[in-house]
Amino acid sequence: MGLTVIIVGDDPASRVYVNSKKKACEALGINSQEFALPADTTEEELLTLVRKLNEDDSVNGILVQLPLPKHINEETVINTIDPKKDVDAFHPQNVGKIMIGNYDFLPCTPAGVMELIKESGIDVSGKECVVLGRSNIVGKPQAMLLLHQNGTVTICHSRTQNLKEVTKRADILVAAIGKPNFVTADMVKEGAVVIDVGINRLPDKTLCGDVDFNEVSKVAAAITPVPGGVGPMTIAMLMKNTVTAAICQNGLKD
Ligand code: GUN
Repeated sequence: MGLTVIIVGDDPASRVYVNSKKKACEALGINSQEFALPADTTEEELLTLVRKLNEDDSVNGILVQLPLPKHINEETVINTIDPKKDVDAFHPQNVGKIMIGNYDFLPCTPAGVMELIKESGIDVSGKECVVLGRSNIVGKPQAMLLLHQNGTVTICHSRTQNLKEVTKRADILVAAIGKPNFVTADMVKEGAVVIDVGINRLPDKTLCGDVDFNEVSKVAAAITPVPGGVGPMTIAMLMKNTVTAAICQNGLKD
């Protein structure tokens, strides 16, 4: 079984994420290989590599680390990955399956958030769930997964009016906007569950989330830290998807 990770260029954050993914594979005994391509790689060169990996039976999962350099169209690349090897669940075929609720893979970060909620004994059914951010990677699929668990879901974004009024209603608040310490205590209802997907690097190089942890933890019933909250769950879900991909392709063997 194997995961292939492709990284293009030298974005430092992407390098850290890719290293964590490879380390997790090693810890679990999953084969992994990395293609580290230069920043001036053409779109056609990248597509040729993806097509080759699609045909390689020893490769069960293909992950192209995002963001890609500006001259490469991310959508074209994602659409070229074989949906059966799409361990990020970014391919439109997998996105559509998630919408319907009959899927093979879930996108890693929203799936990790759902695991955290479940393992903390929190029942989503009937709760006011507010998702901050509408990205294809987190916000939109996160809303869908909360809806599948019978949450009453609101997605907020940069054009949302009276944001604080909306976030204050949340029993479960998921922040995925990429703005350091954006969610402050006055935006959170007493006793809410607050999940911080943000990973932001401050000028002094320290990491912080989208939530002001020190202040919000005084009002929240449960809250995830950054680092050490959602991030490790994302990696765990990637490992799960890689195993699922291998089983779907080969069946279960001893
Ligand atoms: N960049 C930031 N998060 C992700 C992710 O989950 N998958 C990929 N491929 N790239 C990312």
